[in-house]
Amino acid sequence: MELRAVDLGSGTADAQAVQELIDELEQRPWVELAAEWHLESRVLAAFAEQGPAVGLLRYVIQPIGPDQSCQLSIIDGDTLTEARILAFGTRPDHRRQGIGLALQRRAIAEARAAGCWQVRSHSAGGYRANHRLKFRLGFAFQPEVRGGDDRGGYFILPLQHR
Ligand SMILES: CC(C)(COP(=O)(O)OP(=O)(O)OC[C@H]1O[C@@H](n2cnc3c(N)ncnc32)[C@H](O)[C@@H]1OP(=O)(O)O)[C@@H](O)C(=O)NCCC(=O)NCCS
Repeated sequence: MELRAVDLGSGTADAQAVQELIDELEQRPWVELAAEWHLESRVLAAFAEQGPAVGLLRYVIQPIGPDQSCQLSIIDGDTLTEARILAFGTRPDHRRQGIGLALQRRAIAEARAAGCWQVRSHSAGGYRANHRLKFRLGFAFQPEVRGGDDRGGYFILPLQHR
C-alpha cells in the first residue's frame, strides 16, 4: 500500500482511480465542497500494489472560525489555521488493514508542517469505526446535536505548542 497526493483534475490514472473510489464511497459532495475561506485543498489516496485506489482523505486548510460563522482566531497577530478533514473512507474490502490510520497520520503530519494549529473533522453518530479511529489517534471530542443525531460531533487534534 502506498499513499500519494492526487490532483483530481489531472486526468492521470491515479486521478481516475480516486474518482471511482469517491463515487463508491459516496463522498463526492465532501470532496467537491468549496467555501470562500478555504486556503488550500488536498486529496490523499492509498493505492494497492496493483493500482486501484483503496482509501482517500480530503482536507482543506482554512482559518479557524469562519466555517462556524465565527470571527477569525488571532493570537499575537497570527491568524490561526486548521486542517479540516472533509472526506475520508476506505474501500470496504480493505478495511481494518491500517489504511485509515495511515491516511490520517499523513494528513496530521502535513497539517503540522503547514503550521496549522489543529486538525478538525465532524463525524455523525453512526460512524462508530471513525470515532474509534479518531480516539485511537488522540483526538479530543466535542459532542454536538445535529438534526436529531445526538451521538456525533467534532474531533479535534491540537498540533502546536507555544
Ligand atoms: C472509518 C474508516 C475510514 C476506517 O478505515 P480503515 O482503513 O478500516 O481503518 P484502520 O484499519 O486504519 O483502523 C484503525 C483503527 O480504527 C478502529 N476501527 C476501524 N474500524 C473499526 C470498526 N469497524 N469497529 C471498531 N473499531 C474500528 C480500530 O481501533 C482500528 O484499529 P485495529 O484494526 O487495530 O483494531 C472506514 O471504516 C470507512 O471507510 N468507513 C465508512 C466511511 C466513514 O465512516 N468515513 C468517515 C465519515 S465521518
